[in-house]
Amino acid sequence: MKSPHFSMLPLVFAALFSLSWATSPHDDFLRCLSLRSNDSSSISKVIYTPINSSYSSVLESTIRNLRFSTRDTPKPLVIVTPLSTSHIQATIYCSRRHGLQIRTRSGGHDFEGLSYVSKVPFIVIDLVNFRSVDVDVENKVAWVQSGAVLGELYYRIAERSRTLAFPAGTCHTVGTGGYFTGGGYGLLFRKYGLAVDNIVDAQLIDVNGRILDRKSMGEDLFWAIRGGGGGSFGIVLAWKLNLVSVPATVTAFTVTKTLEQNAIKLIHRWQYIAHELPDGIYSAVSLNTVNSSQDGKKTILASFSSLFLGGTDELVSLMQERFPELGLVKEDCIEMSWIESILYFGQIQNESLEILLDRTFRSPLTSPSYKAKSDYVKEPIPEIGLRGLWSRLSEAEVEYAIVGFFAYGGTMDEIPETATPFPHRAGNLYKILYSVGWQEEDNINSERYISWIRTLYSYMSSFVSKSPREAYINYRDLDIGTNKKGNYTSYAQASVWGRKYFKNNFDRLVRVKTMIDPDNFFRHEQSIPPLISSRK
Ligand SMILES: Cc1cc2nc3c(=O)[nH]c(=O)nc-3n(C[C@H](O)[C@H](O)[C@H](O)COP(=O)(O)OP(=O)(O)OC[C@H]3O[C@@H](n4cnc5c(N)ncnc54)[C@H](O)[C@@H]3O)c2cc1C
Ligand SMILES: *[C@@H]1O[C@H](CO)[C@@H](O)[C@H](O)[C@H]1NC(C)=O
Ligand SMILES: *[C@@H]1O[C@H](CO)[C@@H](O)[C@H](O)[C@H]1NC(C)=O
Ligand SMILES: *[C@@H]1O[C@H](CO)[C@@H](O)[C@H](O)[C@H]1NC(C)=O
Ligand SMILES: *[C@@H]1O[C@H](CO)[C@@H](O)[C@H](O)[C@H]1NC(C)=O
Ligand SMILES: *[C@@H]1O[C@H](CO)[C@@H](O)[C@H](O)[C@H]1NC(C)=O
Repeated sequence: MKSPHFSMLPLVFAALFSLSWATSPHDDFLRCLSLRSNDSSSISKVIYTPINSSYSSVLESTIRNLRFSTRDTPKPLVIVTPLSTSHIQATIYCSRRHGLQIRTRSGGHDFEGLSYVSKVPFIVIDLVNFRSVDVDVENKVAWVQSGAVLGELYYRIAERSRTLAFPAGTCHTVGTGGYFTGGGYGLLFRKYGLAVDNIVDAQLIDVNGRILDRKSMGEDLFWAIRGGGGGSFGIVLAWKLNLVSVPATVTAFTVTKTLEQNAIKLIHRWQYIAHELPDGIYSAVSLNTVNSSQDGKKTILASFSSLFLGGTDELVSLMQERFPELGLVKEDCIEMSWIESILYFGQIQNESLEILLDRTFRSPLTSPSYKAKSDYVKEPIPEIGLRGLWSRLSEAEVEYAIVGFFAYGGTMDEIPETATPFPHRAGNLYKILYSVGWQEEDNINSERYISWIRTLYSYMSSFVSKSPREAYINYRDLDIGTNKKGNYTSYAQASVWGRKYFKNNFDRLVRVKTMIDPDNFFRHEQSIPPLISSRK
């Protein structure tokens, strides 16, 4: 298709009937769906209940954290994989009418599984069939539907041009739907900002089933959906992106250091240098536990990695000037095209670009089950602090853990904090991602790992941002606060986690929510609350 349809049909939803008379809300819901859908023959092909043989495989298809795939994990009553906007409209209408919650799933990478788990009876709308990507090379724009994963977007761009790109993440199975709703950083963000800084239009279905574009939704709502977090304002169907230019050749390196090779001193130094590098360089350091079970001991490695929008010679001389301690040499560098750099940073070796279209691909970078958290750093952490971090990673109780530092600066410093809901701009040296992983069989021990990472997070508190201790919404973490259970969400309670993710942008998000979904239909543990909500 050329670009998403704006079928502005005045599909007016009738007022809610609060009574449902039959026994099972879920039978009523199914009946409602087939009555409501103007195309009932096709909607039955995309409705899965636990009695359908493919229910489990559809549910599990994009569960990306097996911590939320246990026997005790609450399951949806029904999964709908809509083929048309009318299927989505019917699902929203019938869920409201029968008091069921909706969880929208695009790529299923939510760190806390919120796109497919809920403690109240719920329906999953899985956008797997909404994934067209339409690239317009002449105008350097693309329309991408929310169910497309980043790899599909990148592949379709590269198919048309090797010097156009889009600034987003390297894990190619992440869904554009969830990723864009939370901001989205990646290899190009010091040069071009976040993904949302490059989104120019969108198509959304609201709680009343209206299909809105930027013009009809207005600038407040368009602002809110670009970083205010998924699952609060409606269902975003598609996004219009401005593509960015990249050179035909880019250069990457990964240099690893052990403790004996002065890793801690180098990381300490990196904190002063990385955020001031030219914006054409992406720079990160990660501390990984390495499985060396031969001698029963675990090693920690520090990996310094970069992507540079240019050639090896320029990169090496720049690094020798700015960060001579790292000792970067030509042999450490690999030149490639931008699209190949996605595979390189995804640690995908010996695969053709078609792997980007494989939605079932399991990234070697993530464990089957995991728990993650984030921080922002405004002042360099002293060496002694880094030593403490290192020794905690060496502790025996965790097998696989990673702590990543991602340099900020560049364009991120120039975009005002209020330009989008994502507030972590100037003044940040870097962001931290903490993650601890384990095998699925070990889910029974998950509390042990989770408590380990909570202790690490508490150890880090004196070194990172304070009041609020900022966090990244796309690294969703329910530990930092959740909405009140029960029939309403207290603004005070939500602002605890809300200010960490959004700082003062939280208030504007609440105003937008109050305007677009005053009854709080689209909600979850960390959804934006409306100012006054009385909905059950
Ligand atoms: C391996 C891995 C690598 C990652 N790398 C990066 C990275 O480099 N940069 C980065 O910024 N983030 C990264 N993330 C985080 C990622 O951006 C978020 O987890 C993101 O929310 C995932 O989007 P999704 O569509 O896959 O997830 P989903 O689980 O489908 O959705 C996430 C949230 O958004 C809601 N949502 C989904 N689709 C829609 C929609 N169409 N309309 C409205 N709400 C919707 C869901 O209900 C849920 O609340 C990574 C995550 C993982 C697991
Ligand atoms: C699931 O089962 C119901 C009832 O048998 C059927 O109507 C529906 O078409 C099935 N769904 C799919 C996707 O096959
Ligand atoms: C169903 O409604 C959609 C818009 O909601 C419209 O595009 C489509 O033509 C309708 N189909 C039928 C069979 O009436
Ligand atoms: C570590 O290696 C051992 C032996 O090779 C293996 O049994 C174990 O599963 C590995 N652990 C991880 C986390 O890879
Ligand atoms: C990739 O392929 C090359 C040659 O085909 C081979 O030498 C190399 O070992 C392979 N690497 C991996 C990680 O499989
Ligand atoms: C919300 O719950 C409280 C106590 O459980 C109850 O008194 C109140 O009437 C409820 N409000 C609505 C709108 O259901």
